[in-house]
Amino acid sequence: MASMTDPLAPYFLGAYGENNDFFEKTLLELVRDHVFWRRNFHPEDEPPIGTHDQYGRAYLDGLARTRRELHQLTAALKRSVPSFHPRYLGHMVSDLLLPGLIAQLVTTLYNPNNIVEDVAPITVQLELEVGRQLARMLGMSVDPGREPCALGHLTSGGTVANDEALWLARSARLLPLALRDASEATGVWIPEVPVRPGSTDVELLAIGADEVLSVARRVSSFCARDPRGTELLAAFGTCRVEELGLAAFADRHPSLKRMALVVPATAHYSWHKAASLLGLGGAALVEVPVRQARMDGARLEAALSALRGDGRPVLAVVGVYGTTEFGTLDSVHELLAVRRRFPGFWLHVDAAWGGYLPTLFRDRQGGLLDRDAVREGFRYFPSERVHRATAALAEADSVTVDPHKLGFVPFGAGALVVRDRRVLDLVQQEAPYVFASPPGEDERRYRKLGRYILEGSKPGAAAAACYVNHRVLPLDHEHFGKLLARSVQTCERLVDRIAGLREELAPWVRLSIPFEPDCNLVCLAFNPKDNRSLRAANAFGRRLFATIDVRPDRPVQLRDFFGSCTTVPLAHLGVEELARIGDELQLELTRPDDDGVFLFRHTLMNPWLQASPGPGEPSYIDAYCHFLVRQVKLQSEATKASSAS
Ligand SMILES: Cc1ncc(COP(=O)(O)O)c(C=O)c1O
Repeated sequence: MASMTDPLAPYFLGAYGENNDFFEKTLLELVRDHVFWRRNFHPEDEPPIGTHDQYGRAYLDGLARTRRELHQLTAALKRSVPSFHPRYLGHMVSDLLLPGLIAQLVTTLYNPNNIVEDVAPITVQLELEVGRQLARMLGMSVDPGREPCALGHLTSGGTVANDEALWLARSARLLPLALRDASEATGVWIPEVPVRPGSTDVELLAIGADEVLSVARRVSSFCARDPRGTELLAAFGTCRVEELGLAAFADRHPSLKRMALVVPATAHYSWHKAASLLGLGGAALVEVPVRQARMDGARLEAALSALRGDGRPVLAVVGVYGTTEFGTLDSVHELLAVRRRFPGFWLHVDAAWGGYLPTLFRDRQGGLLDRDAVREGFRYFPSERVHRATAALAEADSVTVDPHKLGFVPFGAGALVVRDRRVLDLVQQEAPYVFASPPGEDERRYRKLGRYILEGSKPGAAAAACYVNHRVLPLDHEHFGKLLARSVQTCERLVDRIAGLREELAPWVRLSIPFEPDCNLVCLAFNPKDNRSLRAANAFGRRLFATIDVRPDRPVQLRDFFGSCTTVPLAHLGVEELARIGDELQLELTRPDDDGVFLFRHTLMNPWLQASPGPGEPSYIDAYCHFLVRQVKLQSEATKASSAS
């Protein structure tokens, strides 16, 4: 049981609903408060649902049907995955932060639509504030008085945030080409921009995002004051990729037919969707090999050199800060360094998983803590590399962060943060091709959010949830960071437990941690003792996993623990890794036709994984290890019995 001095105790409903009194009382109070608001809107009006109606047969039938269906629903929901419990170590979900949960439930009663402030005057502003909080957490400037000024907003999830990042990247990267085409067509060339008669596509594609956005502004101011501006602006509008579509644009600029989107081999599958959605096609994805499930500068540089040699322009490079399967963090600082040698590409960081980890690195004022200050309370975290990668997030062009993962809010809340909000002007729907706004307008116009982002109608309740959480637990080391520190410490505890576990399991299996964790996600691989076949090892792993998987037909109460699994393709492993993992598992990992190594994947989010579930078990982590030993023994005996019979 969590001690009463546990600083995180007030912030979750809890595995046993320990904070139910507070939850119920506050919810009831806020629901009543909402009804009070309704009643006092125009109390002089006759209530449209008359008192008499409430005693009629049809009315009572309606209530009965509603109740019945709700009871059916909640009965069915008892078969849900108990992701709130420390026995759940599976996917990227855990118990929810109570402040945000209540905020979301209550705000739903007001039903604000964050497409625009006309229908969400409060929550659009909360969303933009959440965007500022996230941008500050990443180290970006949100000072509207200077450029670049960051802007963040919510999406339905990480997938859409990634789609939007690529959409923005495409707009920014291809803008100089469209401007040159428009200038050629009209004979109007804007002085002081690096788009000149004779500029080649290669030169124009080497212009970085910051400069492209300045060019866009200069186009606007030139066109506003020069008599030839209207003609140029009209031509520019027809030359842009947003108007032509990628296929016709690439007919004018043939090298773009082979444009590359460079991602690490560990990238989330949403990048395939994004490439196909934008008309680039899956063939545009260039996967950079990883070392220890991390992309580094050397490997990126090799991939970019090859693309350059092949005449393929690079639309964007994606770094991952928290891979889906292994939780590993790419060396963002090295990717930035590579961009100095290969200028132009848009750098997006997919921090859908790791996006809140920077709270561990920020002081109350938003400053970056040095590594020693961050290290307090950890055994291994953060490595020097992780510290540097975190510091470098501030310089990415855009970052995906998912509040519905390590932000502990209900699903339906991803976020995209752009370092320079001017990029949203490139895709805005109100006055396309006008990239400057009247003085003082900058702040207010983004409240018409739906005109600047990929999605339209969207829940203001999600913004309220994030906002309230970030107010209760500000995004710094001393507040929100405490929650994530618990998660990373839990991972360290499990890693420290592995040596002992390996010995306990030695009579039956070999055990490997294929990738040293960077934060709070750890994978394990098993191989039966004396087995040399990867196929047999994977079959054993899958049978073992069947003791912690989710089955719709099986009551969740019959499960002791829940986990998740993945398979790492051998092609994603370098020679040294293959040798190390092979050695630990005593397997030959060389056959190219093997499907990969089956892994147990543990996402260690729940803050009470280090609490004791009861006598004899110091923690859920220890209880899980004991569970694994029992199951491995049972599986091994079952395998032996079936091969003997
Ligand atoms: C690194 C990464 N990117 C993107 C996504 C997609 O996020 P969502 O499922 O919220 O759309 C995930 C989801 O796990 C992820 O881990």
